[in-house]
Amino acid sequence: MTTFHNSCDCAVVSRTTFDLLVVGDANPDVIVSGSPRHPEFGQREQLVPAAGLVLGGSGAITAYGAARLGLRTAFVGRVGDDPAGTFVLDALRSGGVDVSACVVDPAVPTAMTVVLVDGDDRAILTAPGCLDRLAATDVPPALLERAAHVHVSSYFLQPLLARGLAGLFGLARAAGASTSLDTNDDPAGRWAGLADVLPLTDVLLPNENEAFAIAHAVSGAGVSANASTGAGTATGTAAGRTASAHTSRGAGTAAGPSLGAGAGAGAGAGAGAGAGAGAVAGAGAGAGAVAGAGASPGAGAGVGAGVGAVAGADAGAGAVADAGAGVGAGTGAGAEATPGRAVRDDADLERAVKELAAHGTLPIVKRGAQGALAFADGELIEVPARPATVVDAVGAGDSFNAGLLAALLRGLPLSRSMSVAVTCGTLSTRAAGGTAAQPTWEEATS
Ligand SMILES: Nc1ncnc2c1ncn2[C@@H]1O[C@H](COP(=O)(O)OP(=O)(O)O)[C@@H](O)[C@H]1O
Ligand SMILES: [Mg+2]
Repeated sequence: MTTFHNSCDCAVVSRTTFDLLVVGDANPDVIVSGSPRHPEFGQREQLVPAAGLVLGGSGAITAYGAARLGLRTAFVGRVGDDPAGTFVLDALRSGGVDVSACVVDPAVPTAMTVVLVDGDDRAILTAPGCLDRLAATDVPPALLERAAHVHVSSYFLQPLLARGLAGLFGLARAAGASTSLDTNDDPAGRWAGLADVLPLTDVLLPNENEAFAIAHAVSGAGVSANASTGAGTATGTAAGRTASAHTSRGAGTAAGPSLGAGAGAGAGAGAGAGAGAGAVAGAGAGAGAVAGAGASPGAGAGVGAGVGAVAGADAGAGAVADAGAGVGAGTGAGAEATPGRAVRDDADLERAVKELAAHGTLPIVKRGAQGALAFADGELIEVPARPATVVDAVGAGDSFNAGLLAALLRGLPLSRSMSVAVTCGTLSTRAAGGTAAQPTWEEATS
């Protein structure tokens, strides 16, 4: 599938009132710009360059961006009966988004997020409030029937919605709508429940880390889900693909199921030293060996060193040589030199998108400053990023979603739609927060 079968009002007469219905999360974002990477506790007062209160939530930012791009957009979500809820609904309304079907929940507060921004990386602290009470049944059937496309955001923050999502997408499709999903991150790291949803999802919109994690979760084996940061959990089956780019390209053998968990920290650009510690429990006995760790591609040479306990088949021999030198065998946890981006290579990503496509969806992966990658009709489609002076990348992925949907719904081919999406993501980084710098259709396509 390269274009949606239904188009927005610019193309054909349609049965719909809305080009796009977004179902998902909405909350105020408190954006703290220039945050220290590790804020000090102990009642220390630290000054930061700027902070602002803006519309947040992946669903809300996508809806706002889509309306700005000219789509007739409705949003269904839950807010509390509080000032934060009023703020969110007012902001969406002011952007031209129809919020008449939103639920104001008197029992639970509106969700709230604090985003600590450090360059184009960020830490996100979310109090989910009423998000976990949003249900698929909150979407009025009459509204579902009047939308050309249904987009759902933040699957893992909304477990009730997640449980009903296959049903919701089934109904949407039966009513003639197309569907898309941006799961965003899973705070619990389980990535469960998507196998039934993907076949009903026309377009899946993860970032790279999410693509790996979902592919791993639905594949059961073949694709690894390395932790995206040094401290994390690497779970997976080591046969076929090992837990990090380092080991997969090295000569170490890792056979048999392994459950690794470990933590590590890598240094930044230039010569970096990463240290990792991992424990891998596999089949059989035996011990020893080391989990290799090193710098991520492009970050200079890294020397990995780590300690780990490796049991069973993972203790095979082999030197792991990647960037720098890591010596060890088996898998464990790797350290990573670039916080927030995993140590993997393009071949890993290719395997992940192919795995996702095999589950009946069109995966379009957002790659930050590297643009986007899709796998459609047996072909990889790559779109490079545009250069940007990034203020922050909050909501860049959601603005990408808006651009992609606006372009597909206008009937543009997939690769052109991805270019528009990349432009929308990149332009959104010009200002703090998710919506302030979202482009119009003219800006996105000129
Ligand atoms: N540093 C950057 N430079 C240029 N474009 C960027 C940058 N960060 C994000 N973008 C744009 O925003 C899109 C989505 O950003 P990304 O960070 O990959 O998604 P998410 O916000 O979901 O993690 C990218 O595909 C790209 O178009
Ligand atoms: Mg995202």
